[in-house]
Amino acid sequence: MDYTVMMPAAGSGTRMGAGHNKLFLELNGKTILAHTLVVFQQDPWCTGIILAIKEDERAKIEMIIEQEQITKIRALPEGGSERQHSVKACLAAHQSGGIVLVHDAARPFIAKQVIHELATCALLHGAAVAGVKAKDTMKYVTDGIIEETADRERLWVIQTPQAFRYEILEEASLRAEKERFLGTDEAMLAEHAGYEVRIVESTYDNIKMTTPEDLAYGGYLLKKRLEETI
Ligand code: C5P
Repeated sequence: MDYTVMMPAAGSGTRMGAGHNKLFLELNGKTILAHTLVVFQQDPWCTGIILAIKEDERAKIEMIIEQEQITKIRALPEGGSERQHSVKACLAAHQSGGIVLVHDAARPFIAKQVIHELATCALLHGAAVAGVKAKDTMKYVTDGIIEETADRERLWVIQTPQAFRYEILEEASLRAEKERFLGTDEAMLAEHAGYEVRIVESTYDNIKMTTPEDLAYGGYLLKKRLEETI
């Protein structure tokens, strides 16, 4: 089956402290952005990539696309001040319907099997997101005092990809805009619009490269993958 991936890549990555977009940091001689793009370039189910970027990074990103021979790019819209605005720019650039996946450009370690399960689940049920079961005990804390311990059995850590039938994500996005609802992921928008969103179990190594420690761990994951394919 086919899907289009929308990739927000217009963040500033302040928590990484690199002084520039973290997606340009390298793992094993290749930028994080290039690693993520290659995953979708190589997946036969992926028919198009829409990447939301910062205008002043366009030339650099076009160079990476050319170097890595990414032929599936359909549009490079300008992203916005919030991740949700960057995804909105991708939606506006996508004219056909079908299944769309939203995936953080900062998550290069997504497994192909998880991508395929998500696309299939979205086709069958409308909306599905990748997640892993919480490993730690989680508590609600206010002003340094624990209020409540969450039931760990029901807690999941949510990742991307997040997969949707196009009409669902479009409607959820329009509604969020109209109601000035800001979500930290697309599932929140779909939930807000009243849709049921399913979970597809992902892997713990689908990390979002966020802080400097992630770079060291990312290097280890990449080495492990290379050894596994030899
Ligand atoms: O900052 P964070 O790690 O949560 O960003 C997740 C993804 O969303 C990254 O790939 C980043 O480039 C993207 N993003 C964006 N536009 C923003 C903020 C983040 O495209 N305004």
